[in-house]
Amino acid sequence: MQFKFIDLFCGLGGFRIAFEKMGGKCVFSSDIDEHVQKTYKLNFGEQPYGDITKINAKDIPNHDILCAGFPCQPFSTAGRRLGFEDTRGTLFFDVARILKEKKPIGFILENVKGLTNHDKGNTLNIILNTLNEIGYDYKYKILNAKNYNVPQNRERWYCIGVRKNSNINIEDFIFPEEVKLTKTLSNIIENNITSSDYKISSTCKKNVETYIKKNNINIAPYTLAYDIRPSRCHFVTGDISNCLTAKMGTGGCNVAVVIKQNRKLTERECLRIMGFPDNYKIGKGYQAYKQIGNSVVVPVICKLAEKLIDLCDFD
Ligand SMILES: C[S@@+](CC[C@H](N)C(=O)[O-])C[C@H]1O[C@@H](n2cnc3c(N)ncnc32)[C@H](O)[C@@H]1O
Repeated sequence: MQFKFIDLFCGLGGFRIAFEKMGGKCVFSSDIDEHVQKTYKLNFGEQPYGDITKINAKDIPNHDILCAGFPCQPFSTAGRRLGFEDTRGTLFFDVARILKEKKPIGFILENVKGLTNHDKGNTLNIILNTLNEIGYDYKYKILNAKNYNVPQNRERWYCIGVRKNSNINIEDFIFPEEVKLTKTLSNIIENNITSSDYKISSTCKKNVETYIKKNNINIAPYTLAYDIRPSRCHFVTGDISNCLTAKMGTGGCNVAVVIKQNRKLTERECLRIMGFPDNYKIGKGYQAYKQIGNSVVVPVICKLAEKLIDLCDFD
């Protein structure tokens, strides 16, 4: 049986790449951002639906797996039961109401590591209570991309769930084993980028140089500088990139700099640091950097998808 899945808060479609690779068919996608929608259409030939809060769950096609990397928002909890009804007005509510209405066999959710202690743990508690209340068992874990052969120090919360009455035991789900890192920044960073699009500003250059001199830092071919400010700068000399974030899309000195080459990382290099294949099509500039920083890491989702599909035994 070919399984069907939906791609909520789809962004660049990292979930879609992974679940299509497992033989799944995407039957619905949604993202409110028109720039994101363009990139998605370019790659998958389909324009995602817009604002999920405006979509009636009954209008979403039946599916077996729901995928969602939903934005993390606080719940207002004073004097409440701390379940489904209390999630109203947040984007998690939209995930929950779709699960409640469509009852797919399983789901995979992704979020920042900070979700676990957000609002002193309240946010996660309410999410878990809600999943239980609407009929799902779940398991969650923080995984770091660098342990799945992607050279980025990116910790994310992953939650896998199965419908309580589906005859599938969530206890049988085992998070993927860590693998050795063989792909490093030196395999990703190019040496012949000449385009002026990636030139760094004179202020940025001056800040980096001053910082290097003052702190007597040795610069290797692939040393990257992040978070460049007049008073601080963070260097990574080694195989693994710092976490790429959506802040890259805010301009200024927010895209990491390849110091030896006096330039910013390209969109393609950033996509590689997120584990995207080189045939993925992406635009240029701030919007592209933002989309990349917001994305899931494809090889991590591939490993999780494999385990989830195995557990659900669709074929
Ligand atoms: C953290 S990103 C998830 C990215 C995605 N998982 C990926 O791999 O690229 C959250 C996404 O939710 C989208 N979003 C925010 N509010 C939304 C809404 N009301 N309806 C649909 N999408 C929304 C944003 O545009 C953003 O692309």
